[in-house]
Amino acid sequence: MESNVRTCGDLSKATAPGKIILAGEHSVVYGRPAVAVPVWEATAQATITPIPPGSGCVIAAHDLGRTLSLAEAPDDDPLALIVRKALSHVDCAIEPNWEIGITSTIPIASGLGSGAAVSAAIIRAICSHVDFPIQDADVSQLVYESERLHHGTPSGIDNTVIAYGLPVWYVKGQSPALFKRAKPLTLMIGDSGVVAPTKESVGAVRKGWQKNPHRYEAIFDQISTLVSDARDCIESGELALLGSIFDQNHELLRELDVSHPTLDALVDAARSNGAMGAKLSGGGRGGNMIALVRAGDEPNVEQALLRAGAKSVLVTIV
Ligand code: PMV
Repeated sequence: MESNVRTCGDLSKATAPGKIILAGEHSVVYGRPAVAVPVWEATAQATITPIPPGSGCVIAAHDLGRTLSLAEAPDDDPLALIVRKALSHVDCAIEPNWEIGITSTIPIASGLGSGAAVSAAIIRAICSHVDFPIQDADVSQLVYESERLHHGTPSGIDNTVIAYGLPVWYVKGQSPALFKRAKPLTLMIGDSGVVAPTKESVGAVRKGWQKNPHRYEAIFDQISTLVSDARDCIESGELALLGSIFDQNHELLRELDVSHPTLDALVDAARSNGAMGAKLSGGGRGGNMIALVRAGDEPNVEQALLRAGAKSVLVTIV
């Protein structure tokens, strides 16, 4: 998206959004569709500033208080890895004399795609700096390659929604379909504060599926139907129905054993304080939940989520 990129004088900047899955997590790993949306209220930014010759390429992750030299960074360092991939994409064989500054307002390891957003911002900033136009699909592919190194075998939904910056209908191995919503969606994202690596919840679902494939496949099929209905609701503006789809999807995720008592408490609190529907979002067993609310109900639902134990609440309007 060209609008996410800005070049002023010698300096190039790019921004990428966070993301949240609306429906279809876990079943998307098994070939079913999922729907995800960008979260523009929380973004990652990369800025490239030329520095004196001989300085080499320095990556400065300001929020993490981390500075590293590209030449000395280990092969598997996530930031160095994406910078190397982007430089090779733009055919830059010589290490440039740049400082690549990174900042982000996306909470780390919370299911909002912070790593993928940082990677997307770095790629776009580098491409913009050397005047090398890049397609969203290529940004997505490069981000996917770096995510795969650190997160096992992700379905690819995170890199897709973050690279395109639009709501996506995603099926593994297929080109994503972008779609529009008829009415704005007001979503509250509540962080349970429970740290739960996605890799582990994905592994737990895999074990369950291996033990009882028929039961799991049947649940995935039910989720798949809900995901189709969710897309229809978003495209037609039937938000009350979308809320009830969130509720049903949450129940099915509970059946997959990827919820957590805190997530259930947050979902209940949102529903009983006016949300149209609520569900866990992402890998589960911790991390985030989302609630669909009517405009104006945000303060009520936010207070209820905080009372029920949310560590933080973010509001996003899709
Ligand atoms: O935890 P998140 O928000 O990165 O989402 C993970 C989604 C899963 O479907 C559970 C895994 C995947 O790779 O799609």
